[in-house]
Amino acid sequence: MVAGSGGQLGSEFRAVAERYPQWNFFFFSHRELDISDGKHVREAMRQCDCDVVINCAAFTSVDMAEANPEASFRVNRDGAGILARWAMEQRALLIHFSTYYVFDGLSPRPYHTGDPAVPLGVYGMSKLQGEEFVRQAGPSHLIVRVGWLYSRFGENFVKTMLRLGRERDSLDVVSDRVGSPVYAADVVTAVMGILGKVDLKRCYSSTYHYANEGVCSWFDFAVSIMKTANLPCRILPVESSAFAVSGPRPWYSALSSTSVKRDWGLAVPCWQDSLAAMIAGNVLM
Ligand SMILES: NC(=O)c1ccc[n+]([C@@H]2O[C@H](COP(=O)([O-])OP(=O)(O)OC[C@H]3O[C@@H](n4cnc5c(N)ncnc54)[C@H](OP(=O)(O)O)[C@@H]3O)[C@@H](O)[C@H]2O)c1
Repeated sequence: MVAGSGGQLGSEFRAVAERYPQWNFFFFSHRELDISDGKHVREAMRQCDCDVVINCAAFTSVDMAEANPEASFRVNRDGAGILARWAMEQRALLIHFSTYYVFDGLSPRPYHTGDPAVPLGVYGMSKLQGEEFVRQAGPSHLIVRVGWLYSRFGENFVKTMLRLGRERDSLDVVSDRVGSPVYAADVVTAVMGILGKVDLKRCYSSTYHYANEGVCSWFDFAVSIMKTANLPCRILPVESSAFAVSGPRPWYSALSSTSVKRDWGLAVPCWQDSLAAMIAGNVLM
């Protein structure tokens, strides 16, 4: 059962489902299932009687979370907790996604899963509390914190750069924030690889990081997007103070995928290769 199947990540699961005929998928978009509605979640889960719940649903606007903390906590914390309680009841494995926003951005190296989580703003706090609600509810679970996510679906940095790169001669892009991009299709491949190896009778309780290999700034990322897509648009480095945003954001947000590679034998592509794969097969949806 995939909740939030209309978003970037959920849509990637939907797009590849037929490649995994051994799994019977049930997709629920926001309109079809509100994860913060306990009764609704219970009905959906009983109807599917699933072995695995994949939670792609989230309140992901960092700016709007600052303006409307209740909405952010209702989905990211309470909704995650509700799914976890019903996953526990149904004896289903919960795959729950979280974010680098749980960190303060002061690390001198890519974050490992054991590093202290100190969110700076409402979005990060709501996601961190969502993780805690999942652990406390006690189902078999894997929490996967992902990096700078982009996808063929929905709105994201890569698609915005591709669009602006076709319209403009030059673009200002922030050069003082650093992290690790991750292609949503790679996240899905990794999760499906894990699901091919899990023992559903076992109880899992692990937290992982997943991002493409390598670290870059938004500026580096944008330069690479233009180069890969053969767009002549010049990218100019600027400081983040040039753009008005609500709420604090971590300066450094690279994630180390070491533990997920070790525990599940995954190969993680580097960010440049994944970007090239996305752009090569890109259908702007
Ligand atoms: N995007 C990133 O850069 C990024 C980075 C790190 C981690 N993550 C995490 O990765 C996961 C997937 O993110 P994404 O980029 O795929 O997000 P997304 O594109 O914003 O998709 C989230 C989906 O959840 C839905 N949703 C919102 N409230 C809901 C509710 N109460 N019940 C059910 N569905 C609801 C949204 O529907 P509506 O559009 O109708 O509201 C949307 O379809 C999230 O856990 C996110 O926190 C994202």
